Amino acid sequence: MRILVIGASGFIGRYLAGRLGAPRGPRIYCTFHSRPPADDRNHWYQVELTDPVAVDKVFSMIRPDLVVHLAAMADVGGCERDRAGANAINVEATSEVSGLCQSSGAPLLFVSTEYVFDGARGFYNEDDPPNPTTHYGRTKQAAEQAVAGLGGLGAVLRTSIVYGWPAPGRRNFVPALVERLQRGETWHGGAGVMRSPVYVEHLVEGIARLVEEFQPGIHHVAGRDCVSMHDFALAVADEFGLDQGLVLPAETDPGNSGNPDRLGLDCHRTMRRLGLEHHGLAEGLAAMRASPYNPNL
Ligand SMILES: NC(=O)c1ccc[n+]([C@@H]2O[C@H](COP(=O)([O-])OP(=O)(O)OC[C@H]3O[C@@H](n4cnc5c(N)ncnc54)[C@H](OP(=O)(O)O)[C@@H]3O)[C@@H](O)[C@H]2O)c1
Repeated sequence: MRILVIGASGFIGRYLAGRLGAPRGPRIYCTFHSRPPADDRNHWYQVELTDPVAVDKVFSMIRPDLVVHLAAMADVGGCERDRAGANAINVEATSEVSGLCQSSGAPLLFVSTEYVFDGARGFYNEDDPPNPTTHYGRTKQAAEQAVAGLGGLGAVLRTSIVYGWPAPGRRNFVPALVERLQRGETWHGGAGVMRSPVYVEHLVEGIARLVEEFQPGIHHVAGRDCVSMHDFALAVADEFGLDQGLVLPAETDPGNSGNPDRLGLDCHRTMRRLGLEHHGLAEGLAAMRASPYNPNL
């Protein structure tokens, strides 16, 4: 079995490549764009996804039996600032990958986001209709539609905010918050901004399950607890033994303005269907603190 992981040098991809690349497991072929990885267990290829000839070349060289597509412009603000770039990477490249999967018969697992929903209600399930309000969300919804066009060969796995230790030199929410609280600085979090945070290794278990037992359609894999960003930060402070008094409610809370930001995913159906354990926030943060990637251990 030959598995192609597109975007394996990113935050989630790095953990996935590590999880799938077992000595007697399938052969894992990975792509990166700007960050050559320090991983000699898998085979790596540099690819510019917006160049269809380059994508085609990688497919012909690898002839994958299954593709996991993670590569994206995944930053909400960045997608607003560079809409054309976001369209090229998130939509056009995903259509190109879908077309190659269609013609080669390889199933495609595409990783998407809760930002396909509008944030008016929160805790969306797999059947809720998308209605994105950000450019990032619109590009990911358009990409989902390309993947849905594959019918039985297409699967979409949506997730919520993913936390864990990033690659050296990169930043993400929880480590940045921990550093801030360690310096004794306050942090303001929206009490009406809802998410279902998931620890990266728990998300990767869901992706790996779909790689091992591919199922087409829409899947939701995120944390069991749907919480406000304020409560998420309080839980982080608690797990890392930091002062919860430094975590304050945001002065202007988008969740309480005319621009609701209540996302978060109801994952019960997917968890049951895939036989996955649904981990809560405290469990995920404890696993993150105990991880060998924790620079403070
Ligand atoms: N992280 C989250 O909280 C979260 C939540 C929901 C959904 N998601 C989705 O999960 C997926 C992975 O997210 P992530 O956090 O791991 O993202 P990330 O760390 O930003 O990684 C993005 C990946 O895409 C690659 N890439 C970017 N532009 C490219 C281009 N022009 N050509 C080829 N490759 C390119 C990057 O390569 P280089 O790094 O080598 O440049 C990297 O491997 C995305 O589809 C995102 O929408 C993430």
